[in-house]
Amino acid sequence: MVIDSVFKSMTDPTRRKILQLLLQNELGVSELVDVLGAPQSTVSRHLKTLRGAGLVDARQVGTSATYFPKRGQNGDNQNLPGQNSHGQDLRGRVLDWSASQEMPAPLKSRLDSVLRKRRTESDAFFSEVAHRWDAMRNECFGSSFHLEAITALLPREWKVIDVGCGTGYLLPLLAERFAEVIAVDPVDEMLDVCRQRVSDQRSDHVSFRKGSATRLPIEDGSVDLCIASLVLHHEPLPQEAMKEFHRVLRPGGQVLIIEQKTHTLTEFHAMMQDRWWGFEPDTLSSQLAQVGLTECRVHELRTAGPAKASDTPELFAVTGRKVMDEQMDSPDTAAEN
Ligand SMILES: C[S@@+](CC[C@H](N)C(=O)[O-])C[C@H]1O[C@@H](n2cnc3c(N)ncnc32)[C@H](O)[C@@H]1O
Repeated sequence: MVIDSVFKSMTDPTRRKILQLLLQNELGVSELVDVLGAPQSTVSRHLKTLRGAGLVDARQVGTSATYFPKRGQNGDNQNLPGQNSHGQDLRGRVLDWSASQEMPAPLKSRLDSVLRKRRTESDAFFSEVAHRWDAMRNECFGSSFHLEAITALLPREWKVIDVGCGTGYLLPLLAERFAEVIAVDPVDEMLDVCRQRVSDQRSDHVSFRKGSATRLPIEDGSVDLCIASLVLHHEPLPQEAMKEFHRVLRPGGQVLIIEQKTHTLTEFHAMMQDRWWGFEPDTLSSQLAQVGLTECRVHELRTAGPAKASDTPELFAVTGRKVMDEQMDSPDTAAEN
């Protein structure tokens, strides 16, 4: 009977302590051993009894297990097979009662010291790997997962165009995050590589269109975000391209341009067959303002510095926003016009 096993569990003071401890923190057997000062075999036996009564459950963490009080989703105790709602209710009450009991000070202090030990072990590890952490991080997780995570903050419903998408380096991320993505490039071979790049991803919301920055195959006022990454220095008429970005943006839509800073790197310029020798960030930002965008700002891209080769240009980004309709109609704007 459930009731018997629950009552039996609670007759033992060590088991009552274990329950109280687990109600404060999920703990492993060795941690419980440290807090209770009892042999491991004793702690394991008590945990078995508590698990048998459905008061405690365990999860595997690496090679060991940690234990936690077994509650249902709504804070009620979960019903186990063959057990009626009385058993469920009883276990919930037992857990509530245990949680309401004040923990004896010595027990609390030993729990604190076990939890402190967890932190100390972690601090010791990181103090040892501090100088190697960047390499370990990249090796384990790559170098751009944080970028992916940050884009999760942007609205999913956005329609985004990637102008001069090239091989579609940004595409997997854009396809993952946004409701509609349009990749535009004048070169068929680039668009082919792009298609290939997202072929293993859900991509029915991604389209590929041939076009240039000054003639975008996109309807007026339809885009939430227009990206042009490393493209404008190939475009013969960068200001015309910026007018085109303004045309396709919806009111409130934003543009993100990533560009090279002006440079004199002859070999690089020749190798990349660039038309322009980069741009002055402030000039690009003013030109965006001249085509009617607002909130035009320059952003330094610092991570491009140490990671990149020394004989390549520095990069920067410029952002701007198309004014909202009401701003367009506002007396201030009208007066300015
Ligand atoms: C350096 S790649 C950049 C690709 C990609 N945006 C990236 O960040 O990796 C430049 C791309 O811009 C395209 N491109 C060149 N001139 C362009 C123009 N006038 N309008 C749009 N795209 C252009 C090229 O075909 C090429 O795919």
